[in-house]
This record gives sequence, structure tokens and C-alpha cells, in this order.
Amino acid sequence: MLELLPTPPTDPLWELTAEFAADERPERLDLVLGVYRDPDGRTPVMAAVREAEIRLAQRSDSKEYRGLSGNAAFNRALAALVLGPGVPADRAAAVQTVAGSGALRLLADLICRTRPGTTVWISDPAYVNHRPILEAAGLRVRTYGWCDAEGGFDADGVLRDLGAAGRDDVVLLQGCCHNPTGADPAPRDWEALAELSARNGWVPFVDLAYHGLGDGLEADLWPTRLLAARVPELLIAVSCSKNFGLYADRTGCAIVLGASGRAVRHAETALQNAARTLYSMPPEHGAAVVTAILADDGLRAAWQAELEAMRGRITHNRAELASHLSALGCEAQARALARQKGMFSMLPLTRPQMLLLRRLYAVYGTTSGRINIAGIAAHRIPQLARGIAGVLGSDHAGRPLEGLVH
Ligand SMILES: Cc1ncc(COP(=O)(O)O)c(C=O)c1O
Repeated sequence: MLELLPTPPTDPLWELTAEFAADERPERLDLVLGVYRDPDGRTPVMAAVREAEIRLAQRSDSKEYRGLSGNAAFNRALAALVLGPGVPADRAAAVQTVAGSGALRLLADLICRTRPGTTVWISDPAYVNHRPILEAAGLRVRTYGWCDAEGGFDADGVLRDLGAAGRDDVVLLQGCCHNPTGADPAPRDWEALAELSARNGWVPFVDLAYHGLGDGLEADLWPTRLLAARVPELLIAVSCSKNFGLYADRTGCAIVLGASGRAVRHAETALQNAARTLYSMPPEHGAAVVTAILADDGLRAAWQAELEAMRGRITHNRAELASHLSALGCEAQARALARQKGMFSMLPLTRPQMLLLRRLYAVYGTTSGRINIAGIAAHRIPQLARGIAGVLGSDHAGRPLEGLVH
């Protein structure tokens, strides 16, 4: 049977990571995957997570099945964290998922079960897995623009494109720290998006993967809470991978807000049914850790302080890179970089330039120009800036850029 399988496509990000691992140059710099790295280049277990794990190990007495929605205490705690105090309990349901990706997929299944073939609008560019997840669930995908020519958020363009989204459509929006561009709407732009949704009837679907790493936890959650207050229905995919550092523990949550208690209960059951046919129930460990942290004032404060420190490092890295680029005469690039937020930045480099950056300077970003700002050790920033400035100059050995790339 397996002989019949045609050559399947491989995942470009993981392929690039493997290429990096095989690169023997000591100066190689991995800015491909969206993981936080400390100044020593490690992705540490957060201290609050470690402490919660110790406490859990001491008191864990059973690993019995939890229930169709996973860990109920986790669902309550995460919904409260994301939505704040403003949403009545009977307006929302939360179901634990296999990380943010699992939440995206379950919510995509929910949309499909409600209205097969629904069109979901995603940004262009989008998180690399948005389209595949939505299409795998059977949904149609259309795109709206995101950035202006300077790499900032293009409010007019986004509102114009989304003017074509109708009341049967769903619009996927990243709640903060847009992946891959780092360009986020300003508060007035979120107000305009909420108003457009309320006026035209499309349902916002928020993907929250980086809250706490942009402007701070409360500020990063503000757009999602605004939408919750302004529109009757809202879908939210929450990831705990980045802000709790629980990448491998696959921890997340699908949250649904509806106009009536009945619709919310039906949506919750539909999410449970979708999970049942995919993996039955989500893994417990990460959810138990997050619940232990959010339920204990001391641990919660320690987690938030650590998250703030991570955010501070990312912001510092971004400012440093911008300042080095500026010193090398790359003013426009420095300005664009300084305006962006979160783990990622989109370098204004073409695919050949990104390949050149990899070949000449051992800097690995995606060929679309995305780099992980959170992945650079401070002492490597000058090397990165020199690389970017180097490939921006088209006069390498007097040859055109394309000529240098094999
Ligand atoms: C925008 C966005 N959404 C969702 C995810 C999924 O994260 P995970 O499944 O690891 O929680 C990611 C991961 O990089 C992301 O960047």
C-alpha cells in the first residue's frame, strides 16, 4: 500500500532547521523557529514552570482520564486570563487543546460543522500553518493584505480588503505580535476592525500565540477583549507554548463566545466531538502546570515577572539591531524594525538575499525574510546587522545579487 504514496511535500521550516544543524560554521545563527532563547542561546524552562512541576510531582495522585474538554480548571483559568472579568460565564466555553495548533484545528472543525465550506480570511503574509490547517478542515481560504511598503501595519488596505468579507465569513486575526511580520494594528485600528465585524457580520477568529511578548500581557490581550465586548460571536485559539515556554508539552485552549447560552453549549459539545475523533483528549501535563501557576498568587507573579523579562530582552534585541543597522546606513530597515513587535521581524530582503545571508554570513532566517528576534544572543547582533547590510548592498564583488546565489 505505502508504495502507492506519491512523494509528499516536506515542511520548509523544519527542513531549514535540519540544514542549520548540519552547518559546521561556528558563527552560524539560527533565527528560523519561533522560540525564545536566553543570552546563552538556550530555551530555558521558566522558573515558575519548574516550581509548579515540583509541586505537581509531590502531590499528583492519579492520571485518570480528565474529561472530554480536558482539564476543567485549566479551561476556567485560561478563559479568565484571556477574557478578563468583563465576559459573563454563560457567554463563553473553553476546551483544552493540543497547543495553539490544536485549537486552530478544532475551531476550524467547529466552523466546518456549523457551515461547511465557509470562507476564512487570513492575512497575507500569514503564519505558515494557517492555510494548511484551515484547508485540511475543509474550509475555503481568502487573503487580506497586512503590511504597507515600509513594513508597518496597513490599516487602510486591511479595512479595504476586509470590506469584501460577508456575514457568512470568518476572519482570522492574530491577537498580537503578528507572525511573520511583527506589524500590529494600533488600538484605533482594532476599534475599526471591531466596528467592521459588527457592521458586516463576519465572525472574528483570534489566534493568540504571543500574548505577553509584545506590549505586556494586559496590553496584548486588550484587542481580544475589545472584540469580545463588541461582537456577538468570537472564536479564540490560545497557545501556551511561547508565554509559558511549554513548547513540547502541547498546551492550549479553544475559546468560543456566543450570543446565547444554548449556542455556546452546542459549540462546546461540537468541539468535544471534533477532539474525540482526532485524539480523544488532550495531554494533561502542561495544562496542570499552567493551572497551578495561575491559581497561586506567588507563582503567578513569578511567571509574569519572568515573562516581562523575556519581553524586555526581545525589545532590547530589536532596538539594538535597529541601532546597528542605522549605524551601517540602513535607515529605512532600522525604522521598520523598530516599529515591529514580538518575536518576529520581516526583513525587507528578497529570497536570493536571504539565501545569500545564509551562505555568506551563516544567518538562517526563512526565505520569505522572517527572522526570530528572540533567538539572537546580544553579542551576535552586530554580526546579524553586518550580514543584513552586506546583502542589502547589491555590489558584492561588482556582481548582481542573483549572480551570487546558487
Ligand atoms: C501565530 C501562531 N499561531 C499558532 C501557533 C501554534 O503554536 P503551538 O501549536 O506551538 O502552540 C504559532 C506557532 O508558532 C504561531 O506563530
